[in-house]
Amino acid sequence: MNGWNDDSNSLFSWSLSSEAVSVGGDEALVCFMRQKEGPPSQLPQELADIIRSLQDNQVFTAGVGEVELLPSLGRSPYSYIIVAGLGPDGSIQDWREAAGAAAEKALGRGISRLTASVDSDKAGDERLALIRALTEGFVLGSYTRKSYKKQASARTRLEHVRYLLAGDLSEESLREVVRTAYVYAAATNYARDLTNLPGNELVPETMASEAMRLAAEYGLECIVHDERELLELGMHALYNVGKGSLYPPRMIVLKYQGLPEWNNSLGLVGKGITFDTGGISLKKAEGMEEMISDMGGAAVLLGVMKAIGELKPQVNLLAVIPSAENMPSGGALKPGDIIPTLSGKTIEVINTDAEGRIVLADGVTYAKQLGAERIIDVATLTGAVLVSLGDVATGAVTNDDAFLKELLQAAERSGEKLWPLPAYPEFREMLESTVADIKNAASNRWAGASTGGLFIGEFAEKTPWIHLDTGGTAWLEKKRGLDPQGGTGAMVRTLLHYILH
Ligand code: BES
Ligand code: MN
Ligand code: ZN
Repeated sequence: MNGWNDDSNSLFSWSLSSEAVSVGGDEALVCFMRQKEGPPSQLPQELADIIRSLQDNQVFTAGVGEVELLPSLGRSPYSYIIVAGLGPDGSIQDWREAAGAAAEKALGRGISRLTASVDSDKAGDERLALIRALTEGFVLGSYTRKSYKKQASARTRLEHVRYLLAGDLSEESLREVVRTAYVYAAATNYARDLTNLPGNELVPETMASEAMRLAAEYGLECIVHDERELLELGMHALYNVGKGSLYPPRMIVLKYQGLPEWNNSLGLVGKGITFDTGGISLKKAEGMEEMISDMGGAAVLLGVMKAIGELKPQVNLLAVIPSAENMPSGGALKPGDIIPTLSGKTIEVINTDAEGRIVLADGVTYAKQLGAERIIDVATLTGAVLVSLGDVATGAVTNDDAFLKELLQAAERSGEKLWPLPAYPEFREMLESTVADIKNAASNRWAGASTGGLFIGEFAEKTPWIHLDTGGTAWLEKKRGLDPQGGTGAMVRTLLHYILH
């Protein structure tokens, strides 16, 4: 019933094989091909000839993400052959994207069983890295958004992937790599599902129920504060953003302790605005529906916690999700209001549409109170980041360059794009208020992604902190590469690479 509980993205089964076996049924052999190279050696002669002639005619050029599907007409043990292009280089990210395109193509034709031919000159760890990338690509590329149509067909999913490889790899190491890759990608798909939920299905209370469900499934600790407790605890920032809605706000915390002592913990803080109308500073109608994705940061955190619950690493981790619906009403927050926060600092509200930073103020303070020694917040915070980096890269603001450097390396490994934005003191000065400790919007839109980030940094204070603005990347207007139209789950894999090394 619940979109996010629907298990149609659950683990495909997989197996290993050292020779091409006759499997029967509709199974496709997926092989990979670099640009300017001949057809893969695994192809039977006639099919290799077809690929060659498609190449000659520039119909198939083996670019990254380009795929060709051929029926094998009895010339191979497999009913279909999929040739996936790797571009000129065949980088890890190219393999990931090629696998994603192959999975999408197969499912589009109703083929849900694949044999991946990992015939490469790479050995050992490098080969394992390819298999990891392939697996991630298969899971990410097979994602489809739930349909609400009366005649909707069930979501398609891969049923089985067979890895065809001769050689030197132990089954043990393969098992480990395929599982990790699967968990990372499935966590991303889960975040995509959450992000795609319409605002009438997901409100702060249902987000809290979902966090509790995850906690029960994986043995995590979960704390949820309702609106009455927000007032008792002094979380006025979150309370005020949520008070205009019929659906009351929630502060949601998931805690995972993988070390004997509760120390060295990383605090993740995710913006959980289940719908952002702008509030009294109402947004224009055009495109407002996209604001169902304004809890994209929270979705990323739930995805990360799901993966952590699966993998149970030796780390300490907090996920703090301030969740509210930003609505205009007779009881709503107004421009000019001055509100206290959990930190004791006060905020002058200039624009109720700059609500994410307000709820994150309490989120970041709470993470610190709960013992976080480093903080990463993830938020669809600004439209300004879209102006700077488009829907291509997530923007980062930090008070600790060494910390950010580590995260940038994790992003590199994941294949996700992350780019630093400056944190000049002049930007912070743009948020000086004459009556309160800080105002929530500058008098102009200049450097909006940096000022938005620095507002949050005010509450991190001396704690090493990174802000990830996914305002451009959490949601895509149209599919690109491994990312579907709609929710993308951007930063789930980067964070997992950072946390698990
Ligand atoms: N959720 C929006 C940011 C956003 C807009 C993300 C479009 C993705 C696409 C955020 O709450 C917001 O409205 N920010 C304002 C801040 C401004 C009023 C200082 C913005 O970016 O316009
Ligand atoms: Mn807003
Ligand atoms: Zn918002």
